[in-house]
Amino acid sequence: MLVTDIFRDDLFKGKCVFVTGGGSGINLGIAKNFAALGANISIMGRTVEKLESAAEELRELGAEVVCCPADVRQYDLVAEGVEKTKAELGPIDICVAGAAGNFPMAAAGLSPNGFKSVVDIDLLGSFNTSKACFDQLCETKGNLIFISAGQAYLPFMFQVHVGAAKAGIENMMQTLALEWGPMGIRVNSIVPGPIENTEGARRLSNPDVSQDQVDELVALRRHGTVDDIGQVAAFVACPLASYITGCRIVVDGGMNLGGSLALTNLMMGQ
Ligand code: COA
Repeated sequence: MLVTDIFRDDLFKGKCVFVTGGGSGINLGIAKNFAALGANISIMGRTVEKLESAAEELRELGAEVVCCPADVRQYDLVAEGVEKTKAELGPIDICVAGAAGNFPMAAAGLSPNGFKSVVDIDLLGSFNTSKACFDQLCETKGNLIFISAGQAYLPFMFQVHVGAAKAGIENMMQTLALEWGPMGIRVNSIVPGPIENTEGARRLSNPDVSQDQVDELVALRRHGTVDDIGQVAAFVACPLASYITGCRIVVDGGMNLGGSLALTNLMMGQ
């Protein structure tokens, strides 16, 4: 199903959506859903080629697009990109802090710099993005959406770095919802489940385990798509959700409900 099957295709016409990590994966999927609904898009990422190819896809959907090559760990570069976005597309209405890094590694084998790299990209990067967008979001009474993960609230082995970073993002999301609500800014997070054809899923996959086996651990028995996430982002940012703030919106097909599901399935012989 396309987002335009449900929402008017001019729902976000003329709005400016800024997406970090928007060159690929879930974040590009989010950007494409907003573009399909009439928004103009600014994407930030480290790899120029990825940004340019994503920009082509977004322009095909009718969006005006700005590319901001930058590493979210560097505040000055983020702020520069946010200013460039305003100069070219107008003030940011919706900011999606999605840039993330991940690799599986047991804590005992993880170097302090490996831990720091992920915390810096995910947590510090999300703070940098929020702070750089704050003035513009005040101007538009806009939306801030963080891309979080189940690791924020469930312990996942080999993900100590990601869990720490995402738990920080969840706390920041709720704190900013309190601090920035009076300015009319809504702040929420989305927790994606296993999303097919993304680098995140590839990085956490095991070649000996099939997609079907993973789906056995998901209540809805399927992987999600980038559109599953993009469509929820569009809902969260639209006026229908105007009284929702400080919420973690879990879009995982029920995967994280089943903390003990793998064990239960084994015990019940399923
Ligand atoms: N296992 C263990 N440690 C690893 C690792 C791995 N697979 N990959 C990187 N590291 C460690 C490095 O060894 C280094 O630590 P050291 O200096 O003690 O050796 C540290 O992490 C930083 O690595 P580096 O490659 O210099 O970092 P970077 O800033 O260029 O890249 C990463 C950041 C590591 C998160 C990289 O995986 C990345 O760029 N990811 C972005 C894309 C992504 O992960 N997408 C999925 C999002 S869900």
